[in-house]
Amino acid sequence: MIDGKKTMLSGMQSTGIITLGNYLGALKNWVNLNEEEDIKCFYGIMDLHSITVRQEPANLRKSARTLLLLYIAAGLDPEKNCIFFQSHVPAHPQLAWILNCYTYMGEMNRMTQFKDKAAKHADNINTGLFTYPVLMAADILLYQADYVPVGKDQMQHLEITRDIANRFNGIYGDVFTIPEAYIGKSGARIMSLQDPTKKMSKSDENPNATISLLDDKDTIMRKFKKAVTDSDGFIAYSDDKPGIKNLIDIYCAVTSKSVDEALKESDGMGYGQLKEMVGEAVVAELVPLQERFEALSKDKEYIDKIIKENAEQASYYANKTLRKVMKKVGFTELPR
Ligand code: TYM
Repeated sequence: MIDGKKTMLSGMQSTGIITLGNYLGALKNWVNLNEEEDIKCFYGIMDLHSITVRQEPANLRKSARTLLLLYIAAGLDPEKNCIFFQSHVPAHPQLAWILNCYTYMGEMNRMTQFKDKAAKHADNINTGLFTYPVLMAADILLYQADYVPVGKDQMQHLEITRDIANRFNGIYGDVFTIPEAYIGKSGARIMSLQDPTKKMSKSDENPNATISLLDDKDTIMRKFKKAVTDSDGFIAYSDDKPGIKNLIDIYCAVTSKSVDEALKESDGMGYGQLKEMVGEAVVAELVPLQERFEALSKDKEYIDKIIKENAEQASYYANKTLRKVMKKVGFTELPR
């Protein structure tokens, strides 16, 4: 809660491409939620999280800016919402350090995303990767967020955030709002187009497994045509048919239709036709977004202004919480 209004915070790592999974599991819901209710919204470009995996400096800079443009192109108004770069608000790593001292090794050891990422990057299992969820907790708690809209893969991080906040409040009184995860009706777990038992992930080595928000029309259609299904030859929405289920999930998330409606529309179709129907729906959603992205890319001055103003706004709210935390913990205030 901030200024008497419910608060929402979410964010994405600014690394590499942004996938259709990121869009349908998170970004599209942010836009919907944003339009629905009168809430104060913060959206972070989580570039500090990105360096848990080694980054080329020029790529990191480019990815962060691209992510900001994608947020705006997807429909988040930067004049009404606070869209900021995490690295511009030093209160994030400051609070993360403090919260590290209220988080147990055993809790971090249980994090499945750490285990997955450590397995993928065996040559660089750094302590940042290990304490990554604590920085995420700081992101959320600094803005006293009531809601955190995320895909299902972030649920465990949300639970640990709540645990840390409850522990801290238990010692020092009501310092943090306890956040709730907000999972969208559809699209919460979009799967790989090449292995529908695995989530769609930007780090997938097979480019046909993921749709990037900036893939052109032909690439999108080609990737859907190649999507792995099964050899049954009939359309049904079932866990036994993960490839078909994923296509229907994507269709429903993009069009806001129900599974029943999607099944009705695809009644009698072969797999090839279903793939075409889903591909076309995705193209219809992404092409206008890409056009807005292109237009924004040309307006450097406007984007720079947004970056600066929103960093100031985010810092204002974040510092307010940080000051409160520091006082509670017992740090000496700087004499005026
Ligand atoms: P990240 O960058 O991996 O993903 C961003 C958002 O996209 C969702 N997502 C998916 N949803 C559905 N299907 C998929 N295949 C899929 N892949 C990703 C994620 O659930 C997420 O909502 N740690 C976070 C970033 C972060 C953050 C935060 C999020 C940092 N601080 C504070 C919320 C609040 C992450 O790595 O997400």
